[in-house]
Amino acid sequence: MMHPFWGGAGAGLAAGIGLAVLWFRRRREQRLLKPLREMVRVARALAGGDLYPRFPKEGRPELQELAEALNATAATLEAKLTELGRLERVRIDFVANVSHELRTPLTSIKGFVETLRDGALKDPETAGRFLEIIRKHTDRIIAIVDDLLTLSHLEGSGPSLNLAEMDLAELAEEVAEGFRRRCEEKTLSLRLELKRPARLRGDRDRLAQVFTNLLDNAVKYTPEGGSVSLSLAPEGEGWRIQVADTGIGIPVEHLPRIFERFYRVDKARSREMGGTGLGLSIVKHIVQAHGGSIDASNPPGRGTLFTVRLPATRS
Ligand SMILES: Nc1ncnc2c1ncn2[C@@H]1O[C@H](COP(=O)(O)OP(=O)(O)O)[C@@H](O)[C@H]1O
Ligand SMILES: [Mg+2]
Repeated sequence: MMHPFWGGAGAGLAAGIGLAVLWFRRRREQRLLKPLREMVRVARALAGGDLYPRFPKEGRPELQELAEALNATAATLEAKLTELGRLERVRIDFVANVSHELRTPLTSIKGFVETLRDGALKDPETAGRFLEIIRKHTDRIIAIVDDLLTLSHLEGSGPSLNLAEMDLAELAEEVAEGFRRRCEEKTLSLRLELKRPARLRGDRDRLAQVFTNLLDNAVKYTPEGGSVSLSLAPEGEGWRIQVADTGIGIPVEHLPRIFERFYRVDKARSREMGGTGLGLSIVKHIVQAHGGSIDASNPPGRGTLFTVRLPATRS
């Protein structure tokens, strides 16, 4: 039989060990649970729309791995939502810009119509002048709407290109010929340097618009006596198109933005010249739809140089 002393001490020791075990277990649980609690807190914050908290990398390696994976997910979500926010701001700006661009000529038309109604009609000369102004503003609205329709078609889902085998040099020449008269009227020399044939699989009408918009700008923004040149040469697996002029040029701080919709260096001047501010953004869309790229630069001297690169899918 055990001595009562030992029996009492043994029970005390066992209780002590039991307590210690319990205490250690609890501490281990606490240690395990702490990162989990923190993760729940972060998950709740994310669910509540706060995109910035991140899961702590604490505790067991499996938990750390989980935190890392969840953090990567949170970072992807944050990037996507930031981009969506940016696109939403672009859309809101765009709607505001379109409304403003259309409102300006419409307000003017309304003003002239009212003046005509209030008596100006009786003076044939004034009436003729006003009608001519109304016609100009109407043309402007049509040009804006046409460009917007083109953009919306290019930006829409589904195939927007009508691809066929074609000769880019032949197209370039054809479009450039259409500018001959305007160049002569403005005493601009128009030079073509075309490597031919320049076989390419592309959308003929859309690519014609690329040449038209770039040449139109070059002619528009180059004062009398200057020159405009269009060149086409092979580069790598594709073609390089360059439209250069000796005109007013684009200040370097504006260069990064000129492909944006409605962006113009001088709004009043561009409008006065019949521009919609959408030409270059249409060009960029068409070029990108063909898998190509475009950039603008200020060559040494003066004027502007646009370079388009198109990959040729030579079959
Ligand atoms: N060849 C050029 N020389 C000088 N400025 C140019 C030239 N091409 C484009 N720009 C500038 O880029 C702006 C955007 O061009 P674009 O989209 O074609 O609009 P716009 O309807 O004004 O021609 C123009 O308003 C003009 O400020
Ligand atoms: Mg233009």
